[in-house]
Amino acid sequence: MIGAVSKAFFQTLAGSQKLKRLASRYGMRHERSFAHRFIAGESIEDAVAAARRIQSSGLLVTLDYLGESVTTIAEADAATREYLGLLERIAAAGIERNVSLKLTQLGLTIDRATCVDNLRRVLDAGVAQQFFVRIDMENSPFAAVTLDVFETMWQQGYRNAGIVLQSCLRRSEADAGRMNALGARVRLVKGAYKEPKAVAYQSKVDVDAAFVRIMRRLLLEGEYPAIATHDPAMIDETRAFAHEQGIGHDRYEFQMLYGVRRDLQGLLTREGRRVRVYVPFGREWFPYFMRRLGERPANVGFVIRAVLRDRQE
Ligand code: FDA
Repeated sequence: MIGAVSKAFFQTLAGSQKLKRLASRYGMRHERSFAHRFIAGESIEDAVAAARRIQSSGLLVTLDYLGESVTTIAEADAATREYLGLLERIAAAGIERNVSLKLTQLGLTIDRATCVDNLRRVLDAGVAQQFFVRIDMENSPFAAVTLDVFETMWQQGYRNAGIVLQSCLRRSEADAGRMNALGARVRLVKGAYKEPKAVAYQSKVDVDAAFVRIMRRLLLEGEYPAIATHDPAMIDETRAFAHEQGIGHDRYEFQMLYGVRRDLQGLLTREGRRVRVYVPFGREWFPYFMRRLGERPANVGFVIRAVLRDRQE
């Protein structure tokens, strides 16, 4: 319940332009500024450098150019070109060819056809350069259309893309069945957005129980699923189930966010398991950052301390 309240609170703050301006002034000023805790930096170079560091510790990466809910065709086109540039840059840097993106960043809120065209541009470039492209899942009004767009691309033969399902949504168990039947790769998460009762479980107990049910289904019938969580209980359930079913470490992976539970990332890697780190970067980091605070309000303390320290320096 507290989790739902804090998610709603930080989601509201994420809409504040004043706070955004203030945060942007302090958040990325230098290496020790607070936003660096969860964001690799504002440039592609920052992201590539972070990815290199992470890979050198034996972890896998996916790079995410931050941005969402663009409101003009020009912005959607700019984000698409940014992704095309990112693919080139990653290929040239020799780091792992794996990116994550959001459909509202490519224009879904403006017009579905524009978004599909932009996604196709990224997927085509991805196919040519052997990239895997994960389509993140946004808040519930976009769930059905995101899955539809994904399935359309799948029917058109694009196999270098995967999708995300959120265990908080009541629909996700059925969606997992649908995605497993296609043979599509799913990333399972709990869900980062405050959602209404009509479509989503409200308590942690229910969200976790659904997570375990979907995880089992994905591990048994799915195509190389990604179990994306920092929750030790969910990780233990996954390990135990995989062990019980004789599912090898190479048949699925864990995923975690940049800067969150690095201890656990290292521990699982040392056990010989695959762990992929989601590395976000870019100037539009504010909403992403606020979602991370909403998940763990205790992190607000470190932001305040960092800002106070910054003002004294
Ligand atoms: P939960 O929130 O229950 O936390 C369990 C424990 O993890 C906490 O007790 C704490 O120890 C630790 N923890 C969690 N968050 C922390 C934080 N911010 N700082 C420090 N510790 C923290 N969501 C979505 O809606 N669409 C998407 O596409 C994605 N994509 C995505 C990719 C990847 C790789 C990950 C790991 C997560 C996402 N998410 C997401 C976010 C996801 O839905 C969820 O909001 C967060 O992962 C937090 O939930 P947990 O499963 O970690 O558990």
